[in-house]
Amino acid sequence: MNQNIIDRNRRTKWYTDARFGMFIHWGIYSIPARGEWVRSVERIKKEDYDGFINEFYAKNYNPKEWAKLAKKAGMKYAVLTAKHHDGFCLYDSKVSDFNSMNAPCKRDLVKEFLEAFRAEGIKVGLYFSIIDWRHEDFPHYGDLHHPMRDNEEYKDRKHNFNRYLEFMHAQVKELVTSYGKLDLMWFDFSYADMRCEKWKAKELMEMVRTYQPDIICDNRLEGSAEYAGTIRSLNPSSYAGDFASPEQMIPPEGIRDEAGNPIPWEACITLNNNWAYHAHDKHFKSAKLVIRMLVECVSKNGNLILNVGPNAAGEIPKESVEILEEVGEWMKYNEKSITGCGLSEFPKPEWGRFTQRGKFLYAHVMEEQVGAICLNNMAGKIKKLRLLKDNSEILLTNYWNLKEYSEHAFFFFDSKASDCYPLPDEIDTVVEIELK
Ligand code: GLC
Repeated sequence: MNQNIIDRNRRTKWYTDARFGMFIHWGIYSIPARGEWVRSVERIKKEDYDGFINEFYAKNYNPKEWAKLAKKAGMKYAVLTAKHHDGFCLYDSKVSDFNSMNAPCKRDLVKEFLEAFRAEGIKVGLYFSIIDWRHEDFPHYGDLHHPMRDNEEYKDRKHNFNRYLEFMHAQVKELVTSYGKLDLMWFDFSYADMRCEKWKAKELMEMVRTYQPDIICDNRLEGSAEYAGTIRSLNPSSYAGDFASPEQMIPPEGIRDEAGNPIPWEACITLNNNWAYHAHDKHFKSAKLVIRMLVECVSKNGNLILNVGPNAAGEIPKESVEILEEVGEWMKYNEKSITGCGLSEFPKPEWGRFTQRGKFLYAHVMEEQVGAICLNNMAGKIKKLRLLKDNSEILLTNYWNLKEYSEHAFFFFDSKASDCYPLPDEIDTVVEIELK
């Protein structure tokens, strides 16, 4: 087997067990509050955007609260935007003044984040944009995304991309050398010919792994959500990444390499319709949908990293907090069916989904059924059934109308009843099936 694949499998063990993470998009773009792409979308000039740094007080930033919330929701890792495409650093960068130490908050927000989440036993990661719209040596005119991409004033401007690469590599070096052990690095992103060696990705990864040998990285030094890169091949490059990063969707059949072997992947999904704080986007997903998304990812052998976008004061929107707390209520009783679980050996059932960890199969029942719940082709394979929530016994049934279906196993939640509605938990009732 290719050494990069062997290393990937070893490094990602904790990660494929973790299954559920928190993504945090936070920066000075939380002040205009129209999403982290606001500078690009609205073609805002550097001098008109830079001023937001003077309004970044982060006065209610308390990452311990964030960490408690993540923990309560059952999240096992968290990733904060150390720097997004706008170039603003949430940490004490020595190679850029455009950082939080020079904002009125005067705090190293990354450092505080890492300490708070580690204290809760949550694995920590940093998002780092390899694109930088503020750096003078990053392509402006004619670039695909730069805020000045079609501004003629920039047409004849010279830039020295090598100087940009030195700067970008220096920033990554700061992150991997100044803050102790990092569990994950989330690079974002490649496009057109801006990929792979254009970023000097081999050298960059070598440097990262010199200081953080066990860190895991996403696949965006090569790709994006549009193209996964060589991580799907049997011969991935040294910077192909440890997991694929589908965005705002859950892959229909999970993600496999070209020989059909499952590879680690993580769906990154927002709670409303924006990554960064958006003052008027109230299109929040329900806790029910979030739980079902999470179960769907795990049932397809993937992770879910769910995003929150704190406001400029550092507060996670109240709606997001409420959703995560509700998810936490469900996770409190059902986490065993998520953490350490993955794809099941049994096909997807009609009433919901399966997740599995070794001999333990978890039936996630999401649809009311007429009569008994059917476990297709599982007669004789089951040792016992328990309602996961309270570990109460569930009996297999031989009800009179099931006689002709003896290859299947059936159960009612309540052996004294002969129907399965309403469901004990209408979001997702989990039955733990111990297999023989
Ligand atoms: C992207 C976007 C972005 C977001 C990220 C999260 O490709 O550029 O703003 O941070 O995906 O997955």
